[in-house]
Amino acid sequence: MRSPRSLVGGSPAGQFTVAFDGRELSAQEGQSVAAVLWSAGILAWRTTRVTGAPRGVFCGIGTCYDCLVTVNGRPNQRACLIPARPGDTVTTQEGDGHADLTV
Ligand code: FES
Repeated sequence: MRSPRSLVGGSPAGQFTVAFDGRELSAQEGQSVAAVLWSAGILAWRTTRVTGAPRGVFCGIGTCYDCLVTVNGRPNQRACLIPARPGDTVTTQEGDGHADLTV
């Protein structure tokens, strides 16, 4: 039986895990953080500054900034662009992502 993978001679990508809000999610080499979250059925990982509305991917090409997320303690990373790496810790971002700086 022919499949798209067999036609191009592809092989499965490397597998690893990333943590999202304390959950272990499986990921494959080459996936963006957004793709990993989507694969796990997670569609929102940020809340807006003013109303707290949930946000996830909108454009998927790095233009709209709706997909901002905190990766390894760094807020405001575009999940649709940043590649997932083994051992990444991804957390939901609330507001502007700098709540730890408020006094
Ligand atoms: S979804 Fe628009 S910048 Fe990531």
